[in-house]
Amino acid sequence: MRKPLVAGNWKMNLLVGEAIEMIEALKPLVADVDAVDIVVCPTYTALHAVSQALGNSNIALGGQDAYVKENGAYTGAISPQMLMDVGCTWTIIGHSERRQYFKEVNGFLNEKLKFALAAGLRVMFCIGETLEERKSGKMNEILTRHVTEGLRGLAEADFERVAIAYEPVWAIGTGVTATPDQAEEAHIFVRNVVKDQFGGTISEQLRIQYGGSVKPENAAELMAKPNVDGALVGGASLKADSFAAIVRGAL
Ligand code: 13P
Repeated sequence: MRKPLVAGNWKMNLLVGEAIEMIEALKPLVADVDAVDIVVCPTYTALHAVSQALGNSNIALGGQDAYVKENGAYTGAISPQMLMDVGCTWTIIGHSERRQYFKEVNGFLNEKLKFALAAGLRVMFCIGETLEERKSGKMNEILTRHVTEGLRGLAEADFERVAIAYEPVWAIGTGVTATPDQAEEAHIFVRNVVKDQFGGTISEQLRIQYGGSVKPENAAELMAKPNVDGALVGGASLKADSFAAIVRGAL
C-alpha cells in the first residue's frame, strides 16, 4: 500500500505573519491524521518561521525549488543544504511554473533532482502536459519525456525519496480539474513508463500525486482512484480549513 502524500505548494503567496497564522490554524485540524504524509511548501522567506511554528507536529516542511550547488556565487539561488538547514525534508522540483517562467528544461531538472537527493532531501518531481500538447495528441510523448529525461540515472534506493506529481498544466490555477478518470489514466501511463525504465517493484511503490485545481469538493474522489496516491495543492492549500479537508479526503 502506498501511503498518500498530500502537499501544499503555496507558490509566491503568504507573508511570514500570514504563513504562521495558517500553520497555527492547520495543526489542530490534522493532528490526528497519521495515515497521510502531509507537507507544506512555503516561500523561502517564510520557511524558517514556518519551521518553528510546525515544531514537532505531523506536518513536514518543503521548499519549492532547489539549485544544483551547495553554496557560492549564485545570486538569488537557494541550495538543498540551505533548505535542510531551516528544517525542510522535502522540495518540489520541476514545477510547470519553473518550466514556463524560468525556462527550466528536463536535463537541468534532472540535475536538480539528483543534487537534492544527494543532499538528503525528498523530492516531489512535477510533470505534465499543456492543453495544446493534450489536444494535439502529444500527451503520452510529453509525459514519457518528462519521466525519462527527468528521472534519468536515478538509483533504486533514490526512489524511496521520490514522488511524482502529475500536474496537467491546463488544470493548474484554472479551476478546471482533471476528472478522476483522466487523472487515473495518466497516472497508469506514467507508472508504466517508470516500470519500463526502472522495473516493476519501483513503479509499484512510487507515489504519484495529482495536482491541478484540487479542492475539498473533488479531492476524495480523485484520491479514491487506485493510482492517485495523493495531491499537490496550490490555491486551496493557502487556507487551513480547505487544506485540512483535502488531507482528510486522502483517508
Ligand atoms: P492549483 O491547485 O492552484 O491549481 O495549483 C496546482 C499546483 O500547481 C500545485 O503545485
